[in-house]
Amino acid sequence: MKFEIIKKEKTLIKISDKLSDLYSMPIKSDKILFVTDRTCFKKFKDIIEKAGTEFSKKYFILTLSEKEKNLKSLKKILLFLLKNNFSRTDFVIPFGGGSVCDIAALAASLYMRGINLFMIPTTFLSQIDAAFGGKNGADLGKYKNMIGVFRQPDYLFCGVSFYGEQEIKNGYGELLKYFILKPSNFPKNKVSFALSLKKDLKARIKCVKECLKIKAQFVKADPLDLQGIREYLNLGHTAAHAFESASLKNISHGEAVLLGLKYEYLLSKEIFKKNPPQGAVIENFLTLLSPIKINSRLNFRDFIKAVRKDKKNKGKKNTFFLFSPKGEILKMSGINERILDKIFRRICDEHIGYKRPQS
Ligand SMILES: NC(=O)c1ccc[n+]([C@@H]2O[C@H](COP(=O)([O-])OP(=O)(O)OC[C@H]3O[C@@H](n4cnc5c(N)ncnc54)[C@H](O)[C@@H]3O)[C@@H](O)[C@H]2O)c1
Repeated sequence: MKFEIIKKEKTLIKISDKLSDLYSMPIKSDKILFVTDRTCFKKFKDIIEKAGTEFSKKYFILTLSEKEKNLKSLKKILLFLLKNNFSRTDFVIPFGGGSVCDIAALAASLYMRGINLFMIPTTFLSQIDAAFGGKNGADLGKYKNMIGVFRQPDYLFCGVSFYGEQEIKNGYGELLKYFILKPSNFPKNKVSFALSLKKDLKARIKCVKECLKIKAQFVKADPLDLQGIREYLNLGHTAAHAFESASLKNISHGEAVLLGLKYEYLLSKEIFKKNPPQGAVIENFLTLLSPIKINSRLNFRDFIKAVRKDKKNKGKKNTFFLFSPKGEILKMSGINERILDKIFRRICDEHIGYKRPQS
């Protein structure tokens, strides 16, 4: 199964349940560098070792991927490429979840102003979102994705049998985002479709393909995120990134996106004084599919600091997407921080072991 999504950038995408398809990808190169993390290296050792036997292979293994998506790792990968005499015709192959894909793709984009890039995302979340679209980046301090470049991968292989039920669950936040952006592209009963992904590989292929198609539409219309179109892929992410930063990344990106979508739904209800139509599917995901209870201590000061650093702000204090009572998705900036605090406390009360500080 192969198809090209973005003609201009010529990303060759394969989505398959047969791992043997991985070995038929048309790669020509002398050297390849696999960037992965300890968990993936252990889990996929056989696959990694079988791939590209005709090449000289090197491995760069991160230890705690999400917490290492930073400048220090970037520098280490770049120096590794230099020390091992990689040239522009060689390949960097990120083999892991979204954090590995983000940091390794950033290194591949910077090294010699761009070396071949073949992404092999191994989580459901990274297959439906992180590995495609060209945003490659790293965190700066505790703030998410503050540095990066735009560059599509040359090849993308999504093996839907790489992961189990837990990884499906971790991708529900980003999946829900696509359900909300383009509901008619998916079956009517969203909850049962999402549930079926846990066992049904054919449904996974269909789902990854559909999500990438949707993402490609936004990316094609606004590749560098300058026209206010691509921003909609960031639905729920203002609060999501702020939850991740405020928890010092003790909340996973997948969980944070679910909480971020709920945050924007509750904020919409508070501002428009009416329940938006998207509320039901968001509540269903958080009650039926992925109830979240995080044992962490968060405070609004850290949360709001991260909200103020969001890339969508463009001079404003904060920017969120809201759902109007009719269901339109509207971008709104400069919302009163007292209202943001109220919704933050509500999310913390319901999902995070947050104790209200004594005043
Ligand atoms: N660039 C983008 O457009 C974009 C979009 C969405 C998300 N992201 C980024 O993606 C990251 C989140 O990605 P993620 O959810 O894949 O998390 P992750 O990359 O942090 O991986 C989470 C854990 O899953 C493990 N793992 C990876 N593959 C596995 C497998 N097949 N089976 C079992 N365990 C596996 C990893 O070792 C890691 O411990 C965040 O940093 C987020 O900012 C980027």
